[in-house]
Amino acid sequence: MRVLVTGGSGFLGSEVAARAVSRHDEVFATHRVTPPSPAVAAQWVCVDLADAGAVERMMVALRPEVVIHTAYRTGGPRAHLDTVEAAGHVARAAVTVDAALLHVSSDVVFSGRDRVPLAEGHPTAPVSGYGRLKLRAEEEVLAAHPGAIIARTSLIYGGPDHRGPQERLVVTALEDPSSVTFHTDEIRCPVYVADLARALLALVAGDARGIWHVAGPRAISRLELARGLARSLGGDPGVLRGGPTPEPPPGGPVRPRHLHLDSSRFEAGFGPILRDPAQVLGG
Ligand SMILES: NC(=O)c1ccc[n+]([C@@H]2O[C@H](COP(=O)([O-])OP(=O)(O)OC[C@H]3O[C@@H](n4cnc5c(N)ncnc54)[C@H](OP(=O)(O)O)[C@@H]3O)[C@@H](O)[C@H]2O)c1
Repeated sequence: MRVLVTGGSGFLGSEVAARAVSRHDEVFATHRVTPPSPAVAAQWVCVDLADAGAVERMMVALRPEVVIHTAYRTGGPRAHLDTVEAAGHVARAAVTVDAALLHVSSDVVFSGRDRVPLAEGHPTAPVSGYGRLKLRAEEEVLAAHPGAIIARTSLIYGGPDHRGPQERLVVTALEDPSSVTFHTDEIRCPVYVADLARALLALVAGDARGIWHVAGPRAISRLELARGLARSLGGDPGVLRGGPTPEPPPGGPVRPRHLHLDSSRFEAGFGPILRDPAQVLGG
């Protein structure tokens, strides 16, 4: 299969590209400012996905059968450009070359106020600026490419073998426990990056379309995840500091609290790919 992975220089994209290479797909991976990882033996393409013309030229030159769009930006002045506009450009260009598309989205499209497992049909109501961007990106993608897959996921961790933002935070906290508070009331379904990459490739290999929830099977607090990661990194989980999320100042940034993605539809269709952090990290 000819696969194009956008955001190949990112945490998830590099794992997806490496896994696709290892199963002998023909893999193209994009980067913009981060240099390509020598560990990922894909064919690298340097492109600004916020440039519609460049995206279309790339797509016409590469003619992928499948596009896995992981690229985005959480905040800063380019957030709308790199998250919403780029997603639209990728979706339109994928249609031009008749490529299937999987767009990676997030649990932050939900409000975090409903203390129930969130299935695919649950009403979206983002409360953060980032959540609103991710929802807009989903809408752009589905408007341009109605057959696309939208894969919503949760906090991604990599453990000792593929350290990402969660591991870096835990290392900082192990060095200076008073510098980080892991919120005990922020509930997510953390997913192991290698399991997620496998799940996304399983989705594009079948005839899936529309929205899918693809996250870990257990809803846990940030503190519980951090303790599991600390243990797996050889640190003392007991030193990590937990506490409730502070109330934001009036007009300040709001964080969704209770995001329990229900991925049972994925599990019913594709099997138990998405493991519990306790299984992945031990303990
Ligand atoms: N990490 C999580 O815990 C988490 C949780 C839920 C959902 N997600 C979703 O998972 C996806 C991947 O997240 P991640 O953590 O792997 O991201 P990441 O490590 O921050 O990587 C982001 C990637 O996007 C690329 N990018 C951004 N703007 C670009 C542009 N204009 N042109 C080309 N490339 C551009 C970056 O390339 P350069 O650096 O080379 O510019 C980088 O490769 C995102 O859709 C995110 O919403 C992540």
